[in-house]
Amino acid sequence: MGKLKVGFIGTGNKNKRPDGMGYAMAYQHASGYNALDNCELVACADISEENGQAFAEHNGVSNVYLTHTEMLAKEDLDIVSVCVWPKLHAPMVIDCAVAGVRAIHCEKPMSDTWKAARLMAQECERRGVQLTFNHQRRFGKPFSMARDLAKAGEIGELLRLETACGDIYDYGTHYIDMFGFYNDDFPAKWVMGQIDYRVEKFVFGATVENQAIGYWEYQNGVFGFIATGQGSRGIGADNRLIGTDGIIEVGAPDKVHLRIKRNNSTDWEVIDTAGEHLHGPGYIERAIADLIEALETGREPELSARRALNATEIIFACYESSRRRARVDLPLTIDDNPLVSMVESGELNPKPRS
Ligand SMILES: NC(=O)c1ccc[n+]([C@@H]2O[C@H](COP(=O)([O-])OP(=O)(O)OC[C@H]3O[C@@H](n4cnc5c(N)ncnc54)[C@H](O)[C@@H]3O)[C@@H](O)[C@H]2O)c1
Repeated sequence: MGKLKVGFIGTGNKNKRPDGMGYAMAYQHASGYNALDNCELVACADISEENGQAFAEHNGVSNVYLTHTEMLAKEDLDIVSVCVWPKLHAPMVIDCAVAGVRAIHCEKPMSDTWKAARLMAQECERRGVQLTFNHQRRFGKPFSMARDLAKAGEIGELLRLETACGDIYDYGTHYIDMFGFYNDDFPAKWVMGQIDYRVEKFVFGATVENQAIGYWEYQNGVFGFIATGQGSRGIGADNRLIGTDGIIEVGAPDKVHLRIKRNNSTDWEVIDTAGEHLHGPGYIERAIADLIEALETGREPELSARRALNATEIIFACYESSRRRARVDLPLTIDDNPLVSMVESGELNPKPRS
């Protein structure tokens, strides 16, 4: 059998310092495919010719295009990695599905609106296209060991999950997805949220709040809580799993990646995560190995759209709860991104960034 032909949309510029204006994630996706014997990197598309050419040279890709539509028309691709900014995710994923590729690995967050997130998942599902999102921390030891400890009953019965990060939408998508990972990917039942947006803030071109709190209940009775921005310091860990008999923290103070208080102990026990921390190494490569194996065996990939939708629904429901000044019972029936709509309508009036 021939190798799986892989293409990329949005290559980035690897020589630029990585920040909220560009991480060149396509290079990390490329390492993942290059590590596998059954994948061949054949094409990339980027509106910047310079970025596309540099990516092609670095990763041994022969065909460079300026538009993804030309690439999809001329190449017979099996897999496409979509590594552009969030607003472009849904239309490009749908173009790939319509063009007949077998699998799409898209960067997080899913999309700019709740309607677009549902539509991209729906269009892939009805065409039999495997769609995954790069919530790669599901493949990291601090996270998987935390889940294993909780599953083994080391903190009793799981009651609540807590997280803290910069914003709900861009970084929060990783950690709300991790809650799904810890909690058997149950969807939420309801969401309460409040946001503050007094100064313009954009990450990868997307509007994100300055500060927020969100609280929700999953269908199995476990609760989720997020604090972002200024209030995130009060949480004191990236992820906290609270059980009836103990606590697990991932990303605890003093660069402790994983620790536990088990069986009602009052002392923390630090767990060795074998050199793996909150960002890697190797998570994206393992995620790609998993989605390729899933494609070949027909099983659900760990980073499936079904799981990503659970987190995305909570994100937009937090914003919607702030707009409604009320609890939002799920499923979420809106189409838009309430934060963006509130800015556009003048209901939120942030100061321009200095
Ligand atoms: N999983 C993670 O940990 C992680 C980390 C950082 C960023 N991201 C996500 O990765 C995605 C991409 O971010 P990045 O930092 O790699 O971006 P980037 O700015 O480094 O690269 C994006 C590339 O897309 C190209 N582009 C723009 N419009 C295009 C179009 N219409 N057609 C083709 N190419 C186009 C740009 O020229 C650029 O080269 C974002 O959704 C971001 O949230 C994920």
